[in-house]
Amino acid sequence: MMDWEEYQRVTYGEPPSSNIVTFLTHQNPKTAIDLGCGCGNDTVYMVKKGINVIAIDLFLNKNYILDRLTEEEKERVSFIEGNFEEIELPKTDVVVANNSLAFCSLNNFEKLWQKIYDALNDKGFFVGHFVSKDDIRTQKNGICSFTLEETKKHLENYYIVSFIEVKKERKDKQEESDIFSIVAQKRS
Ligand SMILES: C[S@@+](CC[C@H](N)C(=O)[O-])C[C@H]1O[C@@H](n2cnc3c(N)ncnc32)[C@H](O)[C@@H]1O
Repeated sequence: MMDWEEYQRVTYGEPPSSNIVTFLTHQNPKTAIDLGCGCGNDTVYMVKKGINVIAIDLFLNKNYILDRLTEEEKERVSFIEGNFEEIELPKTDVVVANNSLAFCSLNNFEKLWQKIYDALNDKGFFVGHFVSKDDIRTQKNGICSFTLEETKKHLENYYIVSFIEVKKERKDKQEESDIFSIVAQKRS
């Protein structure tokens, strides 16, 4: 099990994910769910863009988010602390799930993926990451990872707006992450 509290502490204040930044230059959603929001870098970015965001995480440190918001902005964020495999998702214009879906239990992934689809309003968007089977982390137990073909198959009920494979090598060249960064729109 990852130490998510430590992860959130270390990533606090990092720039928002590039998929959500690019997405919001073209779209103007009113509501979003940030699934596995971590320290909330994407949540904070969306709230500051005027979006009402529900931030969901297994370990939620609300102050990482609230500390960066004005009083007016704070009214646009709400929180759910819990397991995204179990929580009911309300209807929304966008589900953001960056670096989080991979940590779903393997046998619950398809259910979670369907739940995301069901939560999206007509023509709503999924903005998030799938981990590639080539990612070194898949050698560890419990990571949900997919081949390119499997990932695209999961997007059959969506129009693909943007699909970018991002490979990152650590400085020590020991570990490479390999993810698919996705923006996709629900087909009506
Ligand atoms: C790698 S972090 C990513 C955080 C953030 N989305 C980002 O891109 O920086 C993964 C986050 O998912 C959360 N998480 C993992 N499993 C979860 C679950 N089953 N339900 C809800 N959140 C979960 C962790 O607590 C952690 O904050």
